[in-house]
Amino acid sequence: MGKVLVSAPLPGPAVEVMRAAHEVVVGADPIGLGREGILARVGPCDALVTLVTDRVDEALLAAATRLRLVANCAVGVDNIDLAACRRRGVAVTNTPDVLTEATADATFALLLDACRRVSEGDRAVRAGRWRGWAPTEWLGVRVTGATLGIVGLGRIGRAVAARARGFSMRVLYTQRSRAPGEVERALAAEYAPLGELLARSDIVALCCPLNEDSRGLLSRERIAGLKPGAVVVSAARGACLDEVALAEALADGRVAAAGLDVFAREPAVAPELLACENAVLTPHLGSADRPTREAMASLCADAVLAVLAGEEPRFRVA
Ligand code: GLV
Repeated sequence: MGKVLVSAPLPGPAVEVMRAAHEVVVGADPIGLGREGILARVGPCDALVTLVTDRVDEALLAAATRLRLVANCAVGVDNIDLAACRRRGVAVTNTPDVLTEATADATFALLLDACRRVSEGDRAVRAGRWRGWAPTEWLGVRVTGATLGIVGLGRIGRAVAARARGFSMRVLYTQRSRAPGEVERALAAEYAPLGELLARSDIVALCCPLNEDSRGLLSRERIAGLKPGAVVVSAARGACLDEVALAEALADGRVAAAGLDVFAREPAVAPELLACENAVLTPHLGSADRPTREAMASLCADAVLAVLAGEEPRFRVA
């Protein structure tokens, strides 16, 4: 029987599944045990189930001398020092595939909301600021037929591109290497270098993982290179864009609207963004439909059972 530390309660049967074979301690707070909470408990543990907000680095690994697995309950693993895990022989797993559709849905929800000012309108109605239908009010960005620029045509980017076809959008994409021809044809997606994509797109969707290539990708300079009146949406990672530069562009209308589900210093949100009525800001809920979150938790449980039984886990990233 191994010892498993789970940073926070998980939806569905995952914890019970692990408990059938191992001693499992689950943090009580839905947002996780936090650094100190993990450090205080991880010493005797063989496996650790982490949230995107749990940083796994040398110092944590040094305190976790028995650890054989970090199962990250997310597809992104930018919170984990993979090289340090490799050096110490600690396996790392993530939860790809199961969250692709949910995250693409959320990206599209942000896109529709930002373009058509849904949340902004909701706030106006609730505040009693709606005086009646007016031909000149609540004008937004047209979605149907717009040019959508997808940064990162991985699983989620492709699922966003598939949705875009239902809105008769022209899809551009950019990434390090060009997608295979059959993928481009199936999605009717046209490759464009980043600068060209930013200049041509009515709507830009960040769908890339956070890594050294994508950190700060939508910089102040690149925001200045967006088509005037463009819309920016992201359910990727906050650190992929310059939040203050984006807020300034939103404030002066160079960027018409933004939909952001992720922030550089979650749960803190840059006050400059909070001040923008034309920004839709959501609490990192991209993968948060119930079946998806249960499937993510199940994959973590599968990884724990596999590694503690001496088997290879299914989605190993280190
Ligand atoms: C969530 O942000 C994830 O990476 O799964």
